[in-house]
Amino acid sequence: MILPKSIWLLLAEKQIITQLKTDISTPIQFSTETKLTSEECTQLVDWIFANEKTYPALTSWLDFLRRYRITFTDIAKGMGRWNDQSSHSLGHDKWAVGWASDAMLPLANALYALKSFECNGTVLECGAFKGSSTACLSLVCEELGFDFDCADSFEGLPSGEGHYGKGDFLGTLDEVKNNVANFGTIERVNFIQGWYSDTLKVYNKPLALLWIDVDLQESTIDILDNVYDNLLPQAVTFSDGFTEGVDFVDKQIANTGGEPAGFYRYFVKNKIPYCSAPGGSKGLAMISKCDLPDMDFTVPPAIISSIIERL
Ligand SMILES: C[S@@+](CC[C@H](N)C(=O)[O-])C[C@H]1O[C@@H](n2cnc3c(N)ncnc32)[C@H](O)[C@@H]1O
Repeated sequence: MILPKSIWLLLAEKQIITQLKTDISTPIQFSTETKLTSEECTQLVDWIFANEKTYPALTSWLDFLRRYRITFTDIAKGMGRWNDQSSHSLGHDKWAVGWASDAMLPLANALYALKSFECNGTVLECGAFKGSSTACLSLVCEELGFDFDCADSFEGLPSGEGHYGKGDFLGTLDEVKNNVANFGTIERVNFIQGWYSDTLKVYNKPLALLWIDVDLQESTIDILDNVYDNLLPQAVTFSDGFTEGVDFVDKQIANTGGEPAGFYRYFVKNKIPYCSAPGGSKGLAMISKCDLPDMDFTVPPAIISSIIERL
């Protein structure tokens, strides 16, 4: 679970969670102790909502999430229309909205938490389509003061892979700019146009959050090859394309297909230690740096979905 510093400290002070390190320096806590059982997770969420009026840290955090729940839902409604350029074989790009609504809240939560730990790197989005996740992130980055880069070909997918075809998920730069101007904060977004294998070669900004929604294994590798080293120690990576119970084996990513296979190949080839888990929305994975193999998430990341349900 990714939590703001004030909430980790509160949970430690009230001994709701006992195995925290005393020097809390990251929004994700790892531990060698047994992680919370599902019953303990439920108790934790109950405690948070029972005490939200008592502790200002809880009030501010939940208010933030509630506010973005409404904003992201409005973005989905505002941008929601049929995509007359749809070309995907199974119609996955028929609807112009990819990520918005509650599905984007785990990323907003992560940014709120990263800010509280003064992790001030850039937010990099790879995969814009018509710009719904771009609009959502532009608003959060504007409020919290993160620089925000949106990288895409703006020509759709580069090649076929599985059921995907070249040019699927096309959103032109003009279309995306227009949507972000209408539903987000266009001034906050730096657009990087072109194929990741070219544009990200020269990318040199330290990253607080990396958001990958590119469908293809090869595109995922092009991104990771060029920017994974830019992630700050506290940074978090989110990716689309993961199925719970299929793409995660313990805390590792399975070599299935699409984005998961891209991560798998990159991490294995470069012998990079990491922890991954369902990120709190359908299809979402959360990946975090973790140097010791016997460490695990103190609180499972997916708990954010229980909190979102109860907002
Ligand atoms: C599924 S869409 C992104 C959906 C978007 N996040 C949303 O919320 O609607 C995938 C995007 O990845 C982009 N893409 C995939 N591979 C790419 C590559 N190698 N270089 C540049 N863009 C790429 C496509 O152009 C497309 O816009």
